[in-house]
Amino acid sequence: MKTIRTTFTALTIGATIALAPALAGAQDMRIGMITPPSHLWTQAAESMGDDLEAATDGRITLQTFPSGQLGNEAQMLQQLQTGGLDMAFLTIAEISNRIPDFGAFYAPFLADDIEHAVRIIRSDVATGLLDRLPEEVGVVGLGFASAGMRQIVSRPDVANAGDLDGLKVRITPFEPIRDFYNALGTAPTPMPLPDVYDALANRQVDAIDMDAELIWAMRYFEQAPTVIESNHMLFPMVGVVSGRVWAQLSEDDRALITEHMQNRLEEVLDKYAERDPEWMALVEDEDEVNYVRIDRDFFAEAVQQWEEIWSERAPILEDLRRVADETR
Ligand code: BEZ
Repeated sequence: MKTIRTTFTALTIGATIALAPALAGAQDMRIGMITPPSHLWTQAAESMGDDLEAATDGRITLQTFPSGQLGNEAQMLQQLQTGGLDMAFLTIAEISNRIPDFGAFYAPFLADDIEHAVRIIRSDVATGLLDRLPEEVGVVGLGFASAGMRQIVSRPDVANAGDLDGLKVRITPFEPIRDFYNALGTAPTPMPLPDVYDALANRQVDAIDMDAELIWAMRYFEQAPTVIESNHMLFPMVGVVSGRVWAQLSEDDRALITEHMQNRLEEVLDKYAERDPEWMALVEDEDEVNYVRIDRDFFAEAVQQWEEIWSERAPILEDLRRVADETR
């Protein structure tokens, strides 16, 4: 579907001349994400749409498509590449499958906690990676946000890493996280977010890799009561615009979209820094939850194996590690 629906194309030339001053540059744009309507990413997209509409007196509108309504992230990325979708808020899972350096963000225990993760995500080394997106993926990356830190929710009790051995663990579909769960001796099961609740309820998986916001909002612990606060990985989100759509936008519209998307992405980062620990505290207070706290030592061997694979695949890891050390 064509996304830059400049009103000109629908009009005859004569009518265009008459109406052009009022309608020139009207843009009905669409943004997709896999998160549910109540999620912080989806709310940020809605707010960005309101901001753009207000800033342009309704000339630019932005319709939000949550819950993977436009397809999974791989499909949305294809639509962005063809110009069939204007914008998306994406995990960097699909991107890291195409540009392995993005996989460096998932280095286990790169960040000590969510505030440290946010400082890493805001660093120049991190934002510099966005420059590679137009040429290598065909999208323009306007900024990063996050979905907090990764935790584990498990049906069986887990007291040590050996208890994870052989468990079917749902993961977001991408290689760095798959390598981590392989190193742990689990059977990583790639599955997009919208499918997770049913898979856990139907016992297709024994455990899930997930973040605090969704553990709390989706109440996965009602299906799998052991919640392991591990903070084992950070989980960036990237706000992107289709490269093809971008090429057709005026300089002024690019500047407007950049400003309003970046404002909302920054707000999302601030909200996770504040709320990630609060959500985990709410989960811990639930009666049915068996809450377990673990740290890097729990995973020691798996972390080392991951490093061996990814220090070669993602040379930028060294720079990100330096940033992590400098921002501790
Ligand atoms: C996930 O795949 O776990 C996920 C995706 C988007 C936002 C949060 C979590």
